Amino acid sequence: CGIVGYIGNQDSKEILLRGLEKLEYRGYDSAGIAVVNEEGVHLFKEKGRIAELREIVDSSVKAPAGIGHTRWATHGVPSKENAHPHQSTSGRFTLVHNGVIENYAILKREQLQGVEFKSETDTEVIVQLIEKLANEGLEVEEAFSKAVSLLHGSYALALIDEQDKNTIYVAKNKSPLLVGLGSDFNVVASDAMAMLQVTDQYVELMDKEIVIVTKEKVTIKKLNGEVVERAPYTAELDASDIEKGTYPHYMLKEIDEQPLVLRKITQRYQNEANELHIDDHILAAMNEADRIYIVACGTSYHAGLVGKQFIEKWAKIPVEVHVASEFSYNMPILSEKPLFIFISQSGETADSRAVLVQVKELGYKALTITNVPGSTLSREADYTLLLHAGPEIAVASTKAYTAQLAVLSILAAVTATSKGINLEFDLVQELAIVANAMEVLCDDKETMEDIAREYLATTRNCFFIGRSVDFYVGLEGALKLKEISYIQAEGFAGGELKHGTIALIENNTPVIALATQEHVNLSIRGNVKEVAARGANPCIISMKGLETEEDRYVLPEVNEALAPLVAVIPLQLISYYAALHRDCDVDKPRNLAKSVTVE
Ligand code: G6P
Repeated sequence: CGIVGYIGNQDSKEILLRGLEKLEYRGYDSAGIAVVNEEGVHLFKEKGRIAELREIVDSSVKAPAGIGHTRWATHGVPSKENAHPHQSTSGRFTLVHNGVIENYAILKREQLQGVEFKSETDTEVIVQLIEKLANEGLEVEEAFSKAVSLLHGSYALALIDEQDKNTIYVAKNKSPLLVGLGSDFNVVASDAMAMLQVTDQYVELMDKEIVIVTKEKVTIKKLNGEVVERAPYTAELDASDIEKGTYPHYMLKEIDEQPLVLRKITQRYQNEANELHIDDHILAAMNEADRIYIVACGTSYHAGLVGKQFIEKWAKIPVEVHVASEFSYNMPILSEKPLFIFISQSGETADSRAVLVQVKELGYKALTITNVPGSTLSREADYTLLLHAGPEIAVASTKAYTAQLAVLSILAAVTATSKGINLEFDLVQELAIVANAMEVLCDDKETMEDIAREYLATTRNCFFIGRSVDFYVGLEGALKLKEISYIQAEGFAGGELKHGTIALIENNTPVIALATQEHVNLSIRGNVKEVAARGANPCIISMKGLETEEDRYVLPEVNEALAPLVAVIPLQLISYYAALHRDCDVDKPRNLAKSVTVE
């Protein structure tokens, strides 16, 4: 979910709506704004996208302060009633919330008997609690901090009071929230991107802080009332980075940016002598570790699987890769000197953060690989490596994945060199060849569109097979396809399909097979024969040097270890066109959100 707030001299409606549009990637099943002026609070909310909210906002209302929210449903179905902002029974208090309140049922039972609830959300419990405390005689600020101190779970909150149009009350725990500073106004946002339209000056908030925001002043306090001073930073985002330009979709723009991002990463990780370079502290941590635990979710998890190969094969350190949401509830036996690597495009994923908090409590060192400087996972880890991929806005991750692979390859190679291991190739040169190969693929969109039409136009399902790293790329290919086209897609290790899933192969079932690795080239082709014999329609994507006549597409040749960076691009493009042909919303697929800030 995403939150915005504005307090100043201008009319807040348009600023809030524009801010929410920029935050739509965080959730888009319902949205709302509440603005306050002399007449009181005006509340507008609607199921669906911000565009639908815009249609019901009364343009004649002018108000200098307001809050807004775009939702990704957790408690309660997406509906107008469950959309934020939520109001207390008297209508005096209006609140937006991102996160999950774990003890909301207890609070409701123990503190709010007799209160009539309008929604099924945990959020309404907070706003009703604030009203109850205010009715008992507490000042609003006291009622707000008292209520916040009773909450267990994650929250980013912004509250307005009908009786005071000059203040927004803000609080945060585990969910991201920033305060932005202007000359005669101040703003609140889940992500600086939302309010870049009005300011590039932001103040980070820490967990369990509350903030009193007026148009002149921002006061940060701890829950015990102690005032905290914190200097703002400049958000280094270029407003043009977050526009689509001439592209029909962000996803296509971001796919096309991959060669550029790769070149940028290589540059950013080179020192003056043009050698690849990683911060000495990080290298020391890598070298001290007897085992590395990579923890991530979704596409970042898939990048971790490939990263394991780089680190094990080149730097000779054993690596385990874990899905964050599993790791936190089922921690494996750890080695004596573990190092944790968190991979997260957004740096905000709650599942990954939960593990980071756990391992920090255990006293272990953590490195975050992220695209967002200053993100929660970056701040809370000991070290950060940045992806330098520029904002990724489409929900389906593309350039962040290849950037993660590139940074992991650099980390592995530099660690290997620091250990005196000779890799027998120059990674800078190999990555340059990869960037060129990516460009060739991005220029061949027509073929990718043909493949999508040929194999995926009407199918219900699709399988991706590969062996070794091709298997991991297949997992990512399947994730891309299912996320945006809703075709049921699964990735399998080439040899595994026959142990069960082959039962699903029917006449013409598409099976996309990757063949970029020489040592498994013959065996994956054997697996293709097995499925073809049962009626499947195989689409073999191989790498130059390994190709045969039956292949549908041949990738330009790159260093075999780096093949995932290249092989994923046709899979991204095929998914894009499959989704397009099915009239799906490519950038905002149903039920998903880009940044999942709830566990
Ligand atoms: C969400 C997104 C996925 C993403 C995952 C992890 O589920 O829809 O595309 O891979 O979160 O996100 P992160 O920001 O931690 O890489």
